[in-house]
Amino acid sequence: MKKISLTGIKPTGVPHLGNYLGAIKPALELAQEYSPFYFIADYHALISVHDAFALKKSIYQVAATWLALGLNPEEACFYKQSDIPEIFELSWALSCFTPKGFMNRAHAYKDKMAKNQVEGLDNDDGINIGLYSYPCLMDADILMFRSNVVPVGKDQKQHIEFARDIAQRFNSHYGRDVFTIPEPIIREETNVIPGLDGRKMSKSYGNTIEIFLEPKALKKKIGSIVTNSQGMEEPKDPDSCNVFSLYKLFANKEQCETLAARYRAGGLGWGHAKAELQTVLEATFGEARERYNALLADTAQIDKILALGAAKAKPVARELMQEVRDTIGIP
Ligand code: TRP
Repeated sequence: MKKISLTGIKPTGVPHLGNYLGAIKPALELAQEYSPFYFIADYHALISVHDAFALKKSIYQVAATWLALGLNPEEACFYKQSDIPEIFELSWALSCFTPKGFMNRAHAYKDKMAKNQVEGLDNDDGINIGLYSYPCLMDADILMFRSNVVPVGKDQKQHIEFARDIAQRFNSHYGRDVFTIPEPIIREETNVIPGLDGRKMSKSYGNTIEIFLEPKALKKKIGSIVTNSQGMEEPKDPDSCNVFSLYKLFANKEQCETLAARYRAGGLGWGHAKAELQTVLEATFGEARERYNALLADTAQIDKILALGAAKAKPVARELMQEVRDTIGIP
C-alpha cells in the first residue's frame, strides 16, 4: 500500500506564481509516489477572513486552481476541512494533550504579538483564540488521516513538530499506536521567487503575479516589473534582471540561453524581454486558465468534486475518531 501524503491549503486569496512554484507544483508531484490527500483548510482561513463573500470566493478560486493545474480528484482525496466535522472533534481531544506552552511558542501567534509590541499595542490586540490554537486544528488535520508525510514550507515546520510530539505523547500515554507519526517534507525554497519589485513574491508585499491572469491584465502586471533604465541598444546583464529571473523559472534551457544571448548582444529593450516572459507564462498556464475559468463558471461542479472527496475522507475520519474515543474512554 502506498504511503499517505497530506497537504492543507488555506483559502486566503488568489494563488500567485510564488505559490505555484513553492507549494502547488511540488505537492502535485508527490501524487506519483504517495496516496495524496489535499484539502482546503477553510476553518483555518476563518481565523483571518471575516468577510463571508471573500471566504467563499477564495475557497472556489483555490479549489479551481489546484484542479486546473492537474490535481486528479479521482486518484487523490480532495475535500474541504469543514466537511469533516470529526476533525474538529479530534482537535478538541488533542488540545487536551497539548501543553499551553507549545501554543505560547507557536510562530503565527508569536509573530502577531511581536508586531503588536512594535506598534505599541496590547500584546493580545487582534489575536483570537483560533489563531492562538491554530496548531491544534492542524494536528487534527494531519493525524486524522494517518499521514506519513506532510509537504510544507519552512514556516510550517514547527507545526509538524507539534503534531509529532502530541501524537507520541498520546500513543505512549495510552500504550496504543493510535496515531501515525508524520514526517515533514520541508521545501527549502532556495530559489526564492522574485516579485514585481525583485523582493520575494508575497501577498504582504503586494508584488505578486497571479497564476491565471487574463492576457491583458498579465501584460499590465509584467509591464510593472521593475527594471533599470538602460536604453534599448545597450547590452544587458540577464542575471541581475527581474524579468529574466522569472523567465528562467518557466522557460526551458534552450529558451533561456537564447534570451540571455539577446540580452548580452544589445538591441533588446525591456518591452521585448517582458513580451518574452508573457509568451512563456502563456505557454505554461494558458490552457490551465481555460480549465480554471470553466470551473469557476460552474461552481456546482466544484461542489460535486469536493463532495466526492468528503465522501472518501469521511469513513477514514470516522474510523480513526472511533478509535480515539475508545482509547480515551468516551463511549
Ligand atoms: N498552516 C498551513 C499554511 O498556512 C495550512 C494547513 C492547515 C496545513 N492544515 C494543514 C498544511 C495540515 C499541512 C497540513 O500553509
